[in-house]
Formats: sequence, structure tokens, C-alpha cells
Amino acid sequence: MPTTNTDTTAKETRPVIGWEQESPVPDGHRFNSTLHVNDGRLLFDDLDLSQILANGVQIPGLERSLPSPLEIVYLPIIRRQIDKMNNIFAEAIVEVDYDGRFYYTYASKANAAEEVIRTTLGAGAHHEMSSTVDVNIARIMIRRGLLTPDRLVVCNGFKTVGTDYAQNIIRLKQEHANVLPVVEDLAELTPLIASGKPFDVGLRQKTYGPNLTEEQMEATDSRFGLNLENIWKAADYIAAAPNLNLRLYHAMVGSQILNKDAFVDYLTPGIEVYARLRKRYPTLNIFDFGGGMPAPLTLNFQFDHHAFAVRLLQTLKETCQRYSVPVPHVMGEFGRFTTAEHGAHLFKVISVKENNSRFPWYIIDGSIMSSFPDSWCLGEHFICLPLNHLDQPFQQVRLGGITCDSDDVYPPKKSNSPLFLPVEAKDLYLGFFGIGAYQEMLGGVKGSKHCVLPEAYELLVDRAPSGEHQFQILRGQTPADVLRNLGYQPEEST
Ligand SMILES: Cc1ncc(COP(=O)(O)O)c(C=O)c1O
Repeated sequence: MPTTNTDTTAKETRPVIGWEQESPVPDGHRFNSTLHVNDGRLLFDDLDLSQILANGVQIPGLERSLPSPLEIVYLPIIRRQIDKMNNIFAEAIVEVDYDGRFYYTYASKANAAEEVIRTTLGAGAHHEMSSTVDVNIARIMIRRGLLTPDRLVVCNGFKTVGTDYAQNIIRLKQEHANVLPVVEDLAELTPLIASGKPFDVGLRQKTYGPNLTEEQMEATDSRFGLNLENIWKAADYIAAAPNLNLRLYHAMVGSQILNKDAFVDYLTPGIEVYARLRKRYPTLNIFDFGGGMPAPLTLNFQFDHHAFAVRLLQTLKETCQRYSVPVPHVMGEFGRFTTAEHGAHLFKVISVKENNSRFPWYIIDGSIMSSFPDSWCLGEHFICLPLNHLDQPFQQVRLGGITCDSDDVYPPKKSNSPLFLPVEAKDLYLGFFGIGAYQEMLGGVKGSKHCVLPEAYELLVDRAPSGEHQFQILRGQTPADVLRNLGYQPEEST
């Protein structure tokens, strides 16, 4: 999913995506809170990644080494992120003396894999969804006892009359009382009213980015949400409907907004509208700032989440005081923040080519563009580090994927960020980090990929309560799987 860095005030800095020197990386060096160097090898938490790929090396709990390329799905990071944000808001609530609670909601569009949803729910997150199959996922989680009755299920996305999604939400309501559809369009109210079921509903405002006045908010060109006139109309219809109850105001303003003050400023017109609505409709009691919470995709990422939370709560409190209404509970829908860092994708360098290029081409055994589509189509940067030979000299290089596509390169074509990797390229492995949100969903899971490359193996990693790693291997695609997907019959797929 697209990252729009809408930071208009911070100085232009280029993303730091790896080691930027020719000298080896000192032993013990920490790149960030998860990645550090030990004896020339890269550890992810305490997981020695190159050893997972190297033949014949024993990792306790993992019965065999795995083929490259390999996806790593590291579930403890998801729990860590949820706990971290819950703690940040708990502290901010005390600091601001804020009389409301915080709802951490996982935006499932960032990564809807079973292990991810099971982990977010297990960590106590509420659940946000955007399409009809998401409802099926929620129902599976209800049956498994993971989506418990206390959890809010927030239904965003388009769900007008006659869509499967609208019908499926109404069905879900029979199994789970806490379903909260957020209205994007007046027409979405019709199936909810017609269902006769007692729904709490939300209203999504039409705004995106820096709309610092109501006029600017109204002038926004956005396919999401309702303009002010329709917000008030929808609130009136909801009040008049015997089965609907206005509960939530949704004000998503962007994605990866790296300036905390700008983020809160963008939300401010919505906070004013919230307070005015709340005066007329006392059932309204949640302000949902949507997604957009920045997550570290690169090594020079900086965002003060605590300061953001404090400023947001202060602004809500001050605005609500001015209108003499109680402060709302606060909800965030965290997609990238929850999942970006839990995913890594490992490759082997299979060839080095000079070809008169300014920097040598290191060719890897997979595709960059189909593994991380945002790097190709949006020029997004992710961390890229060697997994071994970190104690050797480095040189500036460019990476090429194994496809025949001229866009299958890294750093992205227009990037100013240098990529350094060890000069010793024999048996060199590397990893992309920060790729756990959106990239896999955009590239597709299974199916057939660019240049008919089979999908990599996946290694799910978790921790037992006693601390040791638990592994689950998900088999990658075979050539026969790929051929079958493309319509070739089994007898032809040899
Ligand atoms: C309505 C809504 N909520 C939440 C999100 C998640 O955003 P993020 O991944 O930036 O947290 C999105 C992303 O597009 C969204 O559209």
C-alpha cells in the first residue's frame, strides 16, 4: 500500500537503507532495535538469519536449513508493536489527564495472513476491515474464539446497497454484537437501516492531507468519506433510524506523516466537526484518527509517537472543552505500524556483473519488484543489509532481481540513497527488512508472478513462553504449482 510521505515541514533527508561505508561493520553494531551484528553475521532479534539459509547449520528448534529466497514472518514483533502503542497512549492519557480510553485497532489490509490476524487478536487488538472476504476472516476468528465479544470490528471500505460486503456485514452482526460499520457514502445507510439490526455506526469525513480549514476540507478531492453537508445529513438519518446509533467519527488524513505536529494539525478540522456533532448527538463517543501512524521502514526513521499521542489528546481535550462536550475515546487503525517490521525477505547473491556500470550489479535469486511492489511503483525504500560477511570491506552496488525486467532493481531508480554490500559476494546473503506491511498483499500470495518465478518458502517464527524460538515452515511453490496456476494440466507440468 502506497506510502504518502506528506511531511511538508521537515528538512529533505534521504532514506538510509543500509550500511553506507566501505569499511566493515564493527562487531556488535546495532542498526536499529531489532538488527545487530555478531561475529560478521546479522541477527534479527537473536535469530541468526544467514544460518537459517546456510546448509548444514543447526538452529535449535529448526530441523533443517531452508532454501533461498526465504520469507521470515517474526510474530513477536507484532505483539511488541501493539504493547508499545497501548503503553504510549496509556502514559499520554495520564499525562494529559484525559478522560477517555484508547482503542488499538489492527487495519487488516496491511497484512491479512492467518498468523498475523491470530497474533493481533491474541495481543488484544480490535479489528478493522475493508472488504467482504475480511468478514469471512473475522467469522473464522470468532469461531476459533480469538475474536472475542469485547472486540470492536470496524468495517471501512465501500459497502453500498447490493454489495456482498454490505450483506456480509449484516450477517456478521448476528454472530458478533460489536460490529461498527463506518459510512463512506450516504447510500451505505440503506442496507443497514433495512436490516433492522441494532448497529452502532461511524461516519467518515471527506478529508485527506493538509486541510487546515473547513473550506479546504470541503474542497479536497478524495473518493473517501462524506462532505460536511452529508455528514450532518447522515447523522440526522441515523438519529431517525430506530436501529442505528451514531458512535464513531472517522478522520483518516494520510499515511506515514512523519511530522507529528503536521499529523495533528491535519486532524484538527475533523476534531472541530467531531465536537459540534457530539453536541447534537450524545451517543457519539469515539474519535478514530484512522491509519497513517508512521513505522520505521528505513534506518534514519524518526517519529516521536509519545509526543504525537500527547498533542492529539491535548487538542481533543481543548476542543471539547471549548464546545462543552465530553472528550471522546480515541481509536487508531494501525496497519503499517503493526506489521511493517515483522516481515523480512532473504535472498542469495548469485552473480556479480560489472558491464561498464558505475557500480557493480549484484544479482539476487528473486524479484525485488514483485516482492516489494512499493519500491518499484512508488520508489519506496526499505532496509537492505547483508546477512553475512559484515566483517569484510563493503562497496557501493546496485541490486538486480532475477527477472528480465529493467525495473527490477534496488535502490529504486530515482533514489539518492546508496546501497553498500560486502565486496566478498561468494555465498553472500542479504535481507530486506520493514517489508511486512502491504508488500505481500500487493504482490499477491501464491498465484503466478512476474517471469513465472515460484513463490519463496516462508518461515514463521514465534517464541514459546519459556523464550525459545518456535518455527513453522510453509512450503514455497514448486514449478508444477506455477504451471497449474497458469492453466497447464498436471501431465504437462514436468
Ligand atoms: C481506512 C483505513 N484505515 C487504516 C489504514 C491503515 O493505514 P496504515 O497502514 O498507514 O496504518 C488505511 C490504509 O490505507 C485505511 O485506508
